[in-house]
Amino acid sequence: MSAEIWRPFTQMQGFKERGRVVEARGAWLSFEGGHRAVDGISSWWVNTHGHAHPKIAEAIAAQARRFDQVILADFSHGPVAELTQTLGDILPGDDRRIFYSDNGSTAVEVALKMALQAKKHLGEPERRGFVSFSGAYHGDTLGAMSVGARGIFNEPMWDLLFDCTELPYGDIEALRQYLQSDGQSVAAVIMEPLVQGAAGLVFSSPEYLRACSELCQEFGCFLILDEVMTGWGRTGTMFACEQAGVVPDLLAASKGVTGGTLPLGVTACSPQIYEAFLGDSPQRAFLHGHSYTGNPIACAAANAAMALYAQEGTLQRVAAMEYQYKAVGPLFEGLDGVENIRQIGGIFAFDLRSDVGGYLDPIGRRVCDRTFELGLYTRPLGNTCYLMPPFCIGEAELETCLDQLFESVRAELSA
Ligand SMILES: Cc1ncc(COP(=O)(O)O)c(C=O)c1O
Repeated sequence: MSAEIWRPFTQMQGFKERGRVVEARGAWLSFEGGHRAVDGISSWWVNTHGHAHPKIAEAIAAQARRFDQVILADFSHGPVAELTQTLGDILPGDDRRIFYSDNGSTAVEVALKMALQAKKHLGEPERRGFVSFSGAYHGDTLGAMSVGARGIFNEPMWDLLFDCTELPYGDIEALRQYLQSDGQSVAAVIMEPLVQGAAGLVFSSPEYLRACSELCQEFGCFLILDEVMTGWGRTGTMFACEQAGVVPDLLAASKGVTGGTLPLGVTACSPQIYEAFLGDSPQRAFLHGHSYTGNPIACAAANAAMALYAQEGTLQRVAAMEYQYKAVGPLFEGLDGVENIRQIGGIFAFDLRSDVGGYLDPIGRRVCDRTFELGLYTRPLGNTCYLMPPFCIGEAELETCLDQLFESVRAELSA
């Protein structure tokens, strides 16, 4: 009898793991055998305040001793009530209604289903379509894949995904023209605000986001913002949409909500959407749920994680990271073969010139092999290399990471 771990996004034939983690603290991962590396991608963008933060760990332990999962359909509990109150204070917009699930994909699924059903209830049943954008990634469930860009991640399922209009990301005229001709069929426009993550850290501007929001209002479609990656300070503000002064009709978040300790999905909607579901008939309700909806331990972790922003001046720290990235930009620019250097908040990214391009381009992987040897764990997106470490990383540690990245790129380009 035997069993084997099947890794995400991985061709298992010939696969060799990088190491076995025995400890993770602050920005650091320690491996069996003694190797250590900075977690340069916050373990898939989830970790915010650093690994094993004592306050989050304590909150989890205390809650686990008090009570664990309870059914949110019939009961409430302290951790979920506190989290809802806190999110009410920090989410853009007044009077948000919050639905909990358990990861980024489900937070997006909930938003899509709410948009479709709300349009029906609001007397616009003909609005069944979604607009999404080139390069978009919203998760790996079938609905989330349907609103994602068609590519190697979802190719085996193309025939089963529902149709969605894909427009070029960043091109406001394309959205205007589409909504002018077909706007009446659109339930919602869904986008990753300011930065598309899996597309390769593709940036857009606050002006573009604001203009998208205005067009959605003009043409009567909901705006769904997927802040699964950009949320919780990653772009310098608690939510990316704050930089554009935009309040979406629906906002999906997950990843860093618990500081990166436990899975939790958050879908926040406007009162208008929430009220569309009220009525005498059960069929008018949002008949959707997950076993772990509003899990008390995850909510307790989130409450501790949220408190740390004020206690540790987290957003000031993120601003300092951006400043450090800007300072090293010219150094990277000096490397022939490095292009499109960009930074926002805690994110630093650039592309390596290459004839291959795309997610399968091996050049980024070769750079990351080199950084890992030096003590920095990164994971490329094809020919895009980036840093997105936990916010707790010290100035000197970040300086070292940038040096290691620079040296690895230089070595790779001259190999
Ligand atoms: C923007 C965005 N949306 C949704 C998801 C899916 O989140 P999860 O992997 O938690 O399902 C991701 C994951 O990387 C993401 O970056």
